[in-house]
Amino acid sequence: MTKKDFTILGIESTCDETSAAVLRGGKYLLSNVVYSQIEEHKKYHGVVPELASRAHAAKIAAVISQALGEEKIDCVAFANGPGLPGGLMVGRVAAETLAHFKQVPILGVNHLEGHLFACEFEDGEVKNPLGFPLIALIVSGGHTELWYVKGYGQYKVLGRTRDDAAGEAFDKVAKLLGLAYPGGPQVSAQALKGRRDAIDFPRPLLPGTWEFSFSGIKTSVSYYLRDHQPVNVPDVCASFEQAVCETLVKKTMLAADKYKVKHIAVGGGVAANTLLRELMQKEAQKRNIQTHFVPRTMSSDNAAMIALAAWKKLEYAGPNGLEKKCNININPNMKVKNWEK
Ligand code: KG4
Ligand code: ZN
Repeated sequence: MTKKDFTILGIESTCDETSAAVLRGGKYLLSNVVYSQIEEHKKYHGVVPELASRAHAAKIAAVISQALGEEKIDCVAFANGPGLPGGLMVGRVAAETLAHFKQVPILGVNHLEGHLFACEFEDGEVKNPLGFPLIALIVSGGHTELWYVKGYGQYKVLGRTRDDAAGEAFDKVAKLLGLAYPGGPQVSAQALKGRRDAIDFPRPLLPGTWEFSFSGIKTSVSYYLRDHQPVNVPDVCASFEQAVCETLVKKTMLAADKYKVKHIAVGGGVAANTLLRELMQKEAQKRNIQTHFVPRTMSSDNAAMIALAAWKKLEYAGPNGLEKKCNININPNMKVKNWEK
């Protein structure tokens, strides 16, 4: 077996997508099967952990079997954190069982590193290598994190959200407005018909820190709705989306300026947002910075990004990477390791 043929089966089950994917030679995606639990969580306007665990347990065998087909694999990788404990356990048991029966090594991968490296995919292939050093913005339903990245495994976490993640804010505002879950795409669709300067929602920049906070914007929206019935829903959505995206872009650019990077990567579910992409692109261009957006088909949770992050981990560890005992304990609060202390 050459490096070119080295085949990884990735498994993702950290939140509400059950997914398995096969990646060959760190480049070719042979499959990426995603079972989304959205229908199960819709009526609760958010992910219900107990339902998520049950759905992962019910679907994971079929999803893996569909992704694997007749492929021969050299390694099983699964996301061992951060995420919901029940889902992580299902992923671990599935990965360990499969690795045992296939007699291949097993690797645990950080889900958020998956979101970062997903930016390299295009049309089922790894085509767009990230450039380093870069500033990464990982924005999803569970996370909002800003990193300075020197290379694989060399992360400095500049800031996280103090309260709601950006995607969570979209989901909660959608719920306030009676829009369906997940809220991001719904709010964005309404926003297209509204005025972005109709309502002046706050832009929480928290000067002097790299942290984010989105619960204040959400509270402002709820006060606005209380005091202005009936409201113009598109105007609320457009103004809210503008406030969130401006805040994300502003902080990312401050970090890019401070660290003098020439690359920015944006990953996670909220990276599908068109306004965020447009504003980020515009500001990056002014600074001659190259942007690496995750393709929209890869922005939500999927196992292809886990398989690719595993490949990166092995490349970084060198040829003996697989022989070392890998820690496959699950960690719901897993953080990327700061290389600087
Ligand atoms: O990465 P992801 O699939 O799951 C987590 O790891 O959390 O992200 C899901 C989040 C949800 O909160 C959803 O509302 C948000 O991403 N999202 C969006 C858009 N599409 C999905 N937020 C804003 N604009 C979008 N177009
Ligand atoms: Zn995610």
